[in-house]
Amino acid sequence: MAIDFDKVASIIRQFQGLGPHEAYYLKDLAQYELTGPLVPDTEEILRPAFSHSNNVLDIGCGRGKTLIDNAHLFAHGVGLDESEDHMIAYAIRARDEKAITNLDFQVGKALNLPFEDNSFDMVFSERGPLGYYDDTLEEALRVLQPEGLIFVETLGGLDALQAEQARFEAHNISLQTLVVSRNSLLFKDFYELLKYQCSGWIYMSEALPSPTDRDFFEDLLAQSTDDRGNICIPYRTIWIAGSLKA
Ligand SMILES: C[S@@+](CC[C@H](N)C(=O)[O-])C[C@H]1O[C@@H](n2cnc3c(N)ncnc32)[C@H](O)[C@@H]1O
Repeated sequence: MAIDFDKVASIIRQFQGLGPHEAYYLKDLAQYELTGPLVPDTEEILRPAFSHSNNVLDIGCGRGKTLIDNAHLFAHGVGLDESEDHMIAYAIRARDEKAITNLDFQVGKALNLPFEDNSFDMVFSERGPLGYYDDTLEEALRVLQPEGLIFVETLGGLDALQAEQARFEAHNISLQTLVVSRNSLLFKDFYELLKYQCSGWIYMSEALPSPTDRDFFEDLLAQSTDDRGNICIPYRTIWIAGSLKA
């Protein structure tokens, strides 16, 4: 498949000059008709787990969208993020605009949570600092009640899936859910996929590829095509949830 580099350059130009956080959050404004099938809505998976009696913690809450959208479903929520200017300030503003009173947002680090042991019935993190790292997972488990629910969304290949599962089990968590997004998707318009991946990479790598870096895009195409010529995404979204054993 030939790549139209002019089109690639025009996609990248939309995001140039934006910081990584803006690039990520502006992706919704860039008409991502295909984002739905590519990345199912994590809130749909999380929502049934909320309960009216629960205290919940979102680690790496970003701008707090999940807590704000679902605040009516739990007793009290706390969103923690290390970024004040890019994340927590926005979350507080959005919460106050909606006059939501059962949410606190605060600046903090996942490795050193400012909470007592066993403070929460549910702890979750959507593409935040809990994926891959034992130390942040252990800190999250410290503040989770025995038999509380932990939910982690992370990105990775199949090896990441096995590693996350093993990590959960090694930490005395009984696995409840393990969902993996489809990785093989056929698109009539490859450039829609490229548009998605450009913004994702801007966010993840915090570095813009040059629109003239043809090797970069040739590699992307090679990684994104399976042996039958179907377009695939190189990363899968992994949702893993479990209960801390008493
Ligand atoms: C990919 S964003 C996801 C944000 C949000 N969960 C969402 O779904 O929109 C990851 C977030 O984790 C935060 N983060 C990364 N490392 C962190 C750490 N060690 N402690 C606290 N927050 C962290 C970042 O500031 C960022 O807001």
